[in-house]
Amino acid sequence: MRLERPSLKWKTEHITYMNEWDDDRMTPSSFHLQADIPYEVYLEEMAAKEAGLDNRMLNTNYFLIDDNERIVGMVNIRHGLNDSLRQIGGHIGYGIRPAERRKGYATYLLSEALKKTDLLGIRSVLVTCNADNVGSAAVIIKNGGVEDESFTEPHGNVVRRFWIERG
Ligand SMILES: CC(C)(COP(=O)(O)OP(=O)(O)OC[C@H]1O[C@@H](n2cnc3c(N)ncnc32)[C@H](O)[C@@H]1OP(=O)(O)O)[C@@H](O)C(=O)NCCC(=O)NCCS
Repeated sequence: MRLERPSLKWKTEHITYMNEWDDDRMTPSSFHLQADIPYEVYLEEMAAKEAGLDNRMLNTNYFLIDDNERIVGMVNIRHGLNDSLRQIGGHIGYGIRPAERRKGYATYLLSEALKKTDLLGIRSVLVTCNADNVGSAAVIIKNGGVEDESFTEPHGNVVRRFWIERG
C-alpha cells in the first residue's frame, strides 16, 4: 500500500472509482470529477487549489494505492486551519472505495496522512466527522483522536471534532 499524488496515469482508475462512489459528491470533494472538464484540466485546477487559489488553505491530495495498482482511498490534507476548517473540515478528509470498506484501509490511510502532517510540522491535528458517521469516528479514535466540543452547522448538522496530538 502506498500514497501517490494524482496524475494523468490514474485517469481511468479515478473515473472507475468515482463511478462506484455511493453518493452524489465524492469525499474528499477535491476528487470529484465533472463530466465536462477534461482530466488534464481537472489536474491543473487541483494544483491551483492546492497552491491556495481563491484564498483556499494550502492542501495536498493523495490516492491510497493497493498492491494491485488500484485506488482504494483518497485523502486531502490541509496545511493549516481557517475558521471553517477549525469548525467543520479539520486538517484531513478521506474516503474509501465502497467495495473496500471495513478492511482497515481508512485507519491505515489516516495513519499515513498523519505522517504527512508530521512533515508539515503540525503537532495538533484536527479531524472531524458528522455525528452519524460512526465508522469515521472509530477511524479517528483508533488513530488517537481525543474528542473536543462538537460544532452545529446552521442547518443543524452536528460535526464531531477530534484532536490528534503528535508530540
Ligand atoms: C468512514 C470510512 C472512511 C471508513 O472506512 P473503512 O476503511 O471502512 O474504515 P476501517 O475499515 O478502517 O474501520 C475502522 C473501524 O471503524 C469501524 N467501522 C467502519 N465503518 C463502519 C460503519 N459503517 N459502521 C460501524 N463501524 C464501522 C470498523 O469496524 C473498524 O472498527 P474495528 O477495527 O473495531 O472493527 C468509509 O466508510 C467511507 O469512505 N465513507 C464515506 C466517506 C466518509 O464518510 N469519509 C469520512 C468523512 S469524515
